[in-house]
Amino acid sequence: MSTAVAQKSGSDSLNLPELLRTESGERVKNKADWQNARRAEVVKLFEDNVYGQVPKELDSLRFYTKKVQKGVMNGTATLKEVDIQAYRGGDFVTIRLVLFIPDNTPIAPPVFLLINHRDTTNMDPTRKVKMEFWPAEEIIQRGYAVAAFHVADVAADNKNTYDQQVLRLYPDQKQAANGMRAIGAWGWGASRVMDYLVTDAAIDPQRVAVVGHSRGGKAALWCGAQDERFALTISNDSGCTGAALSRRMVGETVKVINTNFPHWFSQVYKTFNDREKELPVDQHMLIALMAPRAVYVASASEDAWADPVGEFLSVKYAEPVFKLFGLSPLPTATQPTIGKAVVSQTLGYHLRPGGHGLTLFDWERYMDFADVYFKKTR
Ligand code: GCU
Repeated sequence: MSTAVAQKSGSDSLNLPELLRTESGERVKNKADWQNARRAEVVKLFEDNVYGQVPKELDSLRFYTKKVQKGVMNGTATLKEVDIQAYRGGDFVTIRLVLFIPDNTPIAPPVFLLINHRDTTNMDPTRKVKMEFWPAEEIIQRGYAVAAFHVADVAADNKNTYDQQVLRLYPDQKQAANGMRAIGAWGWGASRVMDYLVTDAAIDPQRVAVVGHSRGGKAALWCGAQDERFALTISNDSGCTGAALSRRMVGETVKVINTNFPHWFSQVYKTFNDREKELPVDQHMLIALMAPRAVYVASASEDAWADPVGEFLSVKYAEPVFKLFGLSPLPTATQPTIGKAVVSQTLGYHLRPGGHGLTLFDWERYMDFADVYFKKTR
């Protein structure tokens, strides 16, 4: 993870697609050019070539608050369990949201929403099981609300059964070469949770962070890139087709990910197996789509499979778009030392010591960043 590696793979040698030039060759000179012309193009390039479409049509969306339990976590929080039901064509899916809200905050608190792809016990509403993957008590203690849903409610992480939930509502997607697959579906699920959060006066929907680890981090980035209601997007060890630059071909490659996980990305993406250089996008462009909102990318020092250098460089090469908004770059040109978080107003990065995982160390850095970005008073 040496700085030498980071410097050697400058954007020139990687020949990354140009962020600040439209498909018709116009230079993107200011934030209006970005917002009115280039931004939508970049979203569409990711839709058409990588993650697939994001279907928007729904017949209705219903929220059932199944449980409200006050005085949990030693009298410091309220638990809400909400079923979010999305209906289309006489069919529906249910996303089961678990939400803890801290009591006695001066104003409605910000929220951390985890896209959980691991065991459902990670988000145990009874708190009999507690894990660093979703450290709800620590997050509540710092004055944040904390939420999670499980990806299986929208698409199972299984190549044979991923289409049994939300894709039932959108059968056309399965036929389309650029149709939504599992990673897209998980991001779709986080957006439906946001649909609910904007209706809940107990939290502040202007200050919601979407968080995902690894495959969940890929989904969080794609979700945050398109759904501008999320103020902060957090990618933890998201690696290939997450934060890592595909053209580096370090660690997992496009061919390997498409072969091992054929249900994650669109059919079109598979045509880029061994052809990374021909992709019309690279992952720095996904990071750039968050601007002028915030994005935090984290890597782990022993997680070579996710290419920590490539994850860091994506943030660096996204900076020109943040600059168009007058936002400062990360205050470092090279990958920071292990264990040190480096942040600007809207960009954050750290390289945690250790292996692939989402730990309390990571969450603490996210909360430190959010304390400033969300101007939290408690
Ligand atoms: C595999 C996969 C990665 C993914 C990771 C995870 O290692 O190759 O792309 O990020 O699983 O989700 O933990």
